[in-house]
Amino acid sequence: MVPVVFVFVLLFLKDGTSSKKVCSYQDVLDYLNLTTDNSVFKLTRPVLDHTHQTTIELDLILFAILAVVEKSQTFIPFVWVSTIWNNEYISWDPAQFCGITEVSLPKEMLWKPDLFIYEMVHKDESPHNPFIYISHDGVVTLEDDINVVSTCKMDMHKFPFDTQRCNISIGSAIHSVEEVRIIPFSNSSRATQFSRELMKTQGEWEFLQLAVDTVNLSYNNRQFEQLIYTFTIKRRPLLHVINFLLPILFFLSLDLASYFISDHRGEKLGFKVTVLLAISVLLLILNDILPSMSNRTPLIATYCIVIFALMLLSLLETILVIYLMEIDSQERLKDDGEHARKKGETDDCTAEKERQTRCSCICKVSDGEKEHEMLPVAEEVFVQVNGSVQSREARVLLLILEELKRLQKLLDLHLSPREEGGRFVLWATRINRVFFISYVASVTLFLSLIFNEWNS
Ligand SMILES: *[C@@H]1O[C@H](CO)[C@@H](O)[C@H](O)[C@H]1NC(C)=O
Ligand SMILES: *[C@@H]1O[C@H](CO)[C@@H](O)[C@H](O)[C@H]1NC(C)=O
Ligand SMILES: *[C@@H]1O[C@H](CO)[C@@H](O)[C@H](O)[C@H]1NC(C)=O
Ligand SMILES: *[C@@H]1O[C@H](CO)[C@@H](O)[C@H](O)[C@H]1NC(C)=O
Repeated sequence: MVPVVFVFVLLFLKDGTSSKKVCSYQDVLDYLNLTTDNSVFKLTRPVLDHTHQTTIELDLILFAILAVVEKSQTFIPFVWVSTIWNNEYISWDPAQFCGITEVSLPKEMLWKPDLFIYEMVHKDESPHNPFIYISHDGVVTLEDDINVVSTCKMDMHKFPFDTQRCNISIGSAIHSVEEVRIIPFSNSSRATQFSRELMKTQGEWEFLQLAVDTVNLSYNNRQFEQLIYTFTIKRRPLLHVINFLLPILFFLSLDLASYFISDHRGEKLGFKVTVLLAISVLLLILNDILPSMSNRTPLIATYCIVIFALMLLSLLETILVIYLMEIDSQERLKDDGEHARKKGETDDCTAEKERQTRCSCICKVSDGEKEHEMLPVAEEVFVQVNGSVQSREARVLLLILEELKRLQKLLDLHLSPREEGGRFVLWATRINRVFFISYVASVTLFLSLIFNEWNS
């Protein structure tokens, strides 16, 4: 009984040790003879027959839009790129190596396709993934995150309501289509969907679509295959609307409202100049955003310039109106002066005579001689006033009062302006009204046109 059990245990142990074979990745590499000095894997395109094509499957997904710089026409997306190709030198049977199907290796040990991005203007300096995967059937997978600093021709016509399309073209630098073919792994709809799901940051720009397209480029009688990824992104305009469009509209409405400020004083002029200066400060901001070269004039520039010009016109009109009113008031002053002088002269003549007679009367009266001679005149006056004969002092006071009244009349004539204006004021009022109506009409027309254009 005991020996039988012993034999079974022995058998079991023997079986267990024999099936528990230990494999390392190094065994796979030894089998493949893949060492750092073995140049077979590094130097040439990994095909056993030179007529074989190497097919590269490329996948690109947008992780983030890091920056879009309008001024320098640069588009900086952060993308994930995966490249898959076949290496005909690599193959092993996973069953021989405890089921190992994939091994990761440093990138430098294998041949890699010479893919590059045509639009890239800066070398990517972010850290790269140092490893690639090889699989038992010879498939090599390389994955990397790339910070692509690319040029992108942007159309600023509709800024800030613009949608931009930026291309990233990927192709082999020297291998023609007979040697290396590049095909997209995901079609446009899948790439768009993946990018939407993985997108980490969406700042000012909203990601709309990622489309992929294959083209063949001819160069030196050789054809090169290229994948073009087109990113469609849309600007979120809120910030620019709040920062820029609305303030200008506010200033414009202030300018319109200034119609109701009286023209008589200089306040209106000062107000309009202030509003115009405020707009020119806003124009400086625009200078920071827009590129100086653009084939089509940006609508926002038209918006600013036209509004600026309209406000300038209204300022000039105010100056004209104030000038007219100035002329009018000067003319009126002159008229009044002459009128008053003439009236004064005639008054003076009669007054002088009167005064002389009166004075002589008073003198005579004050002399106390021939009192009865003056009595009829004096009596006439005093009867008119209070119907009774007054004392001498009262008579003198009365004459002084009359004189004062006359002077006051003269002064009133000089100082108080006439209520109804002269012909210049009439013109000014007419110009003001006509200008205001046409101003409002042109502003409305212009704004509706430009917003329509922005919306289209
Ligand atoms: C492995 O490569 C070395 C040179 O790197 C070579 O000498 C050797 O013969 C190769 N072995 C096999 C089995 O191919
Ligand atoms: C971007 O690529 C598309 C083809 O996918 C092409 O029609 C378009 O002209 C390219 N745009 C630029 C700016 O090169
Ligand atoms: C894109 O690929 C997905 C699967 O990869 C497929 O279901 C879909 O029909 C494809 N769309 C087009 C337009 O080819
Ligand atoms: C590019 O050329 C290859 C080989 O001639 C061909 O198979 C492929 O269809 C071409 N692609 C395009 C987009 O014309």
